[in-house]
Amino acid sequence: MEIIRNIKVMQETANAYIREAKTIGFVPTMGALHEGHLSLVERCRQENDIVVVSIFVNPTQFGPSEDYKEYPRDLEGDIEKLREMEVDIVFCPTAEEMYPEGYCTYVNVEGVSEKLCGAFRPGHFRGVATVVTKLFNIVKPTRAYFGQKDYQQSIIIKRMVEDLNFDIDIIVCPTVREKDGLAMSSRNQYLNEAERQAATVLYRAMQAAREVILSGKGFGEAKEHMQRVLRSEPLVREVQYASVYDPFSLEDITTLDASGYKGRKVLLAIALIIGKARLIDNMLVEVTQ
Ligand code: PAJ
Repeated sequence: MEIIRNIKVMQETANAYIREAKTIGFVPTMGALHEGHLSLVERCRQENDIVVVSIFVNPTQFGPSEDYKEYPRDLEGDIEKLREMEVDIVFCPTAEEMYPEGYCTYVNVEGVSEKLCGAFRPGHFRGVATVVTKLFNIVKPTRAYFGQKDYQQSIIIKRMVEDLNFDIDIIVCPTVREKDGLAMSSRNQYLNEAERQAATVLYRAMQAAREVILSGKGFGEAKEHMQRVLRSEPLVREVQYASVYDPFSLEDITTLDASGYKGRKVLLAIALIIGKARLIDNMLVEVTQ
C-alpha cells in the first residue's frame, strides 16, 4: 500500500494507471475510519482494479464555531485498517497544499445545498463540493463511493457530477448501523455512555414514522410520531429538523397527499444535538398504499 501526501505525485500515479487502462475506485473520507467507511472501501475493492482512499479533514466544510479542531484524527489506526483491506493508495494531503495562500475558487451546488443541513451549516456543502471537485481532479477516479448516511451530500455530489460533466460514476452505499440502530459516525465518539444510549432515538423515531407511512396514514402524521419520539428523549438538546421529504428536491412534503407518492420513495431525515454531538440520520421508505 502506498501512502501519498503530495498532490502532483497522486496525479502522476493516477495517470500511470489510466495509461495501463486500469479502473480507479475512490473513497473520499475525513478519517477516524469505522465500519461504515470500510463498507465503501470493500465495495470499491470488489469493483475496481485500483483502490484509492483519501483521508483529509477538510477545513472549508466546517463553520467557524464547528468542530474542525476537535474532529477525531487517527491516521496511523486508519492506515492499518486500510492496509488490511488491500487498499492500493491512501492519499492524505496537507491543508496547506490543498488550500494555499490566495486560494479563492469554490463550487456551489445551488438549491439542494440550502435545504436540511445546509440551513443549519451555512457554507458546509460549498466546502464539500469544492474539496470533492479537487479530489476528483487529483485522484482521477473511474468510480467514487459515498454513503447514504449523508444522503444530502450524496445527491449534491450526483448533481454536481452531472452539471459539471465529470466522467465519474457515483455509487451510493447503504448506511451501516450499530446493533441498536445508531448509524456509525466518527462523531459518535463525542458521546458519553448516557448520550450514546439516548442517540438510538434517531433510529427509533424513523422506525415509528416508517410504520405510520406503511400503514397508509399521511406524511403529517408520520412527522408528528417522529417528533413525539424525539421529544421523549430528555438528552436531546435541540432538534434541527425531523420530517418527511421528497428524495430529489428535499422539500418537506408533510402537507402533501401521500397518494401522490404511491409506488415511490420518500425520505425521512433528522438532525439533532445530543451533548456536544450533532447527529444526522435518514431512511428511504417506499409508499405502498
Ligand atoms: P466522512 O464523514 O469521513 O465520510 C466519508 C464517507 O463515508 C461518506 O461518503 C459518508 O457518507 C460515508 N459514511 C459515513 N458513515 C457511514 C455509515 N454509517 N454507513 C455508510 N457510509 C458512511 O463525508 C465526508 O467524510 C466528507 O464530507 C467528504 C465527502 C470526505 C468530503 O470532505
